[in-house]
Amino acid sequence: VRVALLFGGRSSEHAVSCATAAGVMRAIDRAAYDIIPIGIAPDGRWVVVADDPTPLELTATHRPSVPDDAPGVIVPTSTRDRVLRSMSATSVPNQLGEVDVVFPLLHGPYGEDGTVQGLLELADIRYVGSGVLASAAGMDKHVMKVMFASAGLPVGPYVVVPDTRWRHDRAAVEADVAGLGWPVFVKPARAGSSMGITKVDGPEGLAAAIETARAHDLKVLVEAAIVGREIECAVLQGRDGEPNRTSQVGEIVVRAGHGHAFYDFEAKYLDGSAVELSCPAQVPAEISDRVRAYAAAAFAALGCEGLARVDCFYTVDGDVLINEINTMPGFTPQSMYPQMWQASGVSYPDLIDELIALALA
Ligand code: DAL
Ligand code: MG
Repeated sequence: VRVALLFGGRSSEHAVSCATAAGVMRAIDRAAYDIIPIGIAPDGRWVVVADDPTPLELTATHRPSVPDDAPGVIVPTSTRDRVLRSMSATSVPNQLGEVDVVFPLLHGPYGEDGTVQGLLELADIRYVGSGVLASAAGMDKHVMKVMFASAGLPVGPYVVVPDTRWRHDRAAVEADVAGLGWPVFVKPARAGSSMGITKVDGPEGLAAAIETARAHDLKVLVEAAIVGREIECAVLQGRDGEPNRTSQVGEIVVRAGHGHAFYDFEAKYLDGSAVELSCPAQVPAEISDRVRAYAAAAFAALGCEGLARVDCFYTVDGDVLINEINTMPGFTPQSMYPQMWQASGVSYPDLIDELIALALA
């Protein structure tokens, strides 16, 4: 089976995606799969790169990137051809011979948000994971909350700040946000890996935090801070019409004394001692059952396929709220999604195998 690994991409999570690709390259069963590694450079060029995970690892001193001048650039690069880029990209698999399936290991906009999925649908190429609508809905922290709420799932209080409202009606935004109480989290609606997120303790910090978020996305979300623990669950689509599977629940424990105000990018990827992933999380069985049920319901509410990680809060009052869904969660062997499956009896190589089998089914 020929598998194209698609990674890097135009989003701010480019380096995280490279790290994910490195993990998959190391673990995938080479006897069963031929790998074609295709990097998407930050400027959108598609490049066939070496089948070597080492330069793609993310560490405190190395932020990997797909080179935009590598040999084997397979998409026209002149300005004249910019408009044709996406069309050329659809012919990539043909230039490389037949590809049986594409594994989009892309996080964030232009990869996890339905755009690449649409391109692959257009070209009639099979791919791992969710389709266009679920990917797009799962990328937008506002749209996903609307869909969760309409499926009867509990979400926390929030205020949406669309571009025009921020530019023309700032006082109203500030009044709405004050109604949430302090602190709040200010987030770009469509980003990931904590990019552009600021914890704000009072009204004086709000405008700067919104501008920070707007650098990633002109649509911003302000969420009430939830006091509690972050409990996550991994969902894997069922085979042959079987029910979707949920993993043991896991917990992100941010260790005190590391200077991280929350589970930010540094804590997630660069400061290995800042967090501990614990699975199964030490919560009452009733809570773990509830998180798993909500995760399965969230997956269904968006119409997800393949995989997703659902992040919940277990509040100090004993409630469970859904915070978000990620349709292409961090997928290095150390990431939460594979770790939760590992703790539930599915190894990382088996998980890769299963996801490809689901895409080909
Ligand atoms: N957006 C990152 C990769 C995650 O959800 O794990
Ligand atoms: Mg999260």
